[in-house]
Amino acid sequence: MSQLIEMRVPDMGNFKDVDVIDVLVKPGDAVQVDTPLATLETEKATMDVPATAAGVVEIVHVVKGGTISPGDLVVSVRAADAAPVTAAAPAAPQPAAAVPASAPAAPVPAPAIPAPAPPAPGQAPPAQGAPAPIDEAGFARAYASPSVRKLARELGVDLGRVTGGGLKGRITADDVKAYVKGMLTGGGAAPSGGPGLPPVPVVDFAAFGAVEVKPLGRIQKISSTRLHASWVNLPHVTQFDEADITDLEATREKLKSKAAKSGVKLTPLAFIMRACVRTLQHFPLFNASLDESRQNIVYKKYFHIGFAADTPNGLLVPVVRDADRKDVYELARALAALAARARDGKLPAADMQGGSFTISSLGGIGGTAFTPIINAPEVAILGVSRSAMKPAYRDGSFVPRLMLPLSLSYDHRVIDGAAAARFTTYLAAQLADPRALLEAVP
Ligand code: COA
Repeated sequence: MSQLIEMRVPDMGNFKDVDVIDVLVKPGDAVQVDTPLATLETEKATMDVPATAAGVVEIVHVVKGGTISPGDLVVSVRAADAAPVTAAAPAAPQPAAAVPASAPAAPVPAPAIPAPAPPAPGQAPPAQGAPAPIDEAGFARAYASPSVRKLARELGVDLGRVTGGGLKGRITADDVKAYVKGMLTGGGAAPSGGPGLPPVPVVDFAAFGAVEVKPLGRIQKISSTRLHASWVNLPHVTQFDEADITDLEATREKLKSKAAKSGVKLTPLAFIMRACVRTLQHFPLFNASLDESRQNIVYKKYFHIGFAADTPNGLLVPVVRDADRKDVYELARALAALAARARDGKLPAADMQGGSFTISSLGGIGGTAFTPIINAPEVAILGVSRSAMKPAYRDGSFVPRLMLPLSLSYDHRVIDGAAAARFTTYLAAQLADPRALLEAVP
């Protein structure tokens, strides 16, 4: 007899007694991993609870219109032969059009513009101007209220293809109408507030040689949507600079082994984060966001700093909360703990929410510069590449100095080039002064 698997509401941050606005399965339905089971709505987001294993639904424990909290049972599923997904923590429900669970939060709920799925072999792509057939799974995952879902149904619009222009990427009625208008004028999927995107050619790769097709993972899908949304909605500019970290590295080397004895891995990233906080305190615009109306700038008085972490499942952005109240050692401890949880697939959604600025460090890997994509609705992100010894001209001769490459991408709607150059100049000065970085936080 195959196993009966209980699927529960995963950790959703601080929410409880959340409204169940839709139940998407019934007893007897076959589900796969990630099949949406129920749609929940908080004050901030609509999100689906995904199945964590394949099988057949035996009992549905929730009702439409009821409320539910993390840990509550959603459905019991009689397992298919395949083993259930053994995430130590169940995958957090994801706002369909939002980022890795925060505002990025994760997600960065910038409006999502899922690329149209390539047609199956032998199937023609939808004609320009014709509505694409509705992909029910994508529709169910779309981040929209019941009334907008109803409107989309009436108009035959696949919500999974509509860009959300509302708060945190929520799809509004206007977005649906703009999408329809875009279809009627032959523009295909019309992202809100912008022209339709020209499609990428569909190529039958197998016609040119052997291929292997592997589905994208859940985290890869979410981050690809968020990255695409940021790329097409925010005018990105990247400011490059270098910081002289010769003294910083000498100091870090001296402190490293002592710190290790007390269980702290004192990596460059902890110092970089401390330097970023000091710089953000000096340039509050870089710790801000445009509000939904795009008429106001929201200055955040907190400093929650995200950092990109490379994990076996894909890119995650854990957030160090109140980074301004942590000294370098506390930052190093927090970075190590969050990175370990991210790699083990045990990072709760709450640890990826509420970031105000992000750092992406590729310094441990290599490279000289890159153009990071902003974790919208944040307005700037710092990319860090590998430090290298370079000749610097000082007092009439060349001396070897350890230089750290900085790549600051910023939203040009909010930040101008002069401000960005001042920011990286100030940041480089902070990084050149390890004594100040090691001071106790006020
Ligand atoms: N220049 C030279 N060396 C560097 C460096 C830099 N800028 N940054 C780190 N290093 C060194 C460290 O000193 C360490 O060496 P050590 O063990 O001899 O002290 C080594 O590289 C590895 O550092 P790491 O363990 O990666 O620590 P970290 O604090 O620098 O980074 C993470 C932690 C989580 C950011 C990192 O592991 C990671 O995931 N990076 C990838 C981020 C990413 O994917 N970004 C792209 C997003 S699109």
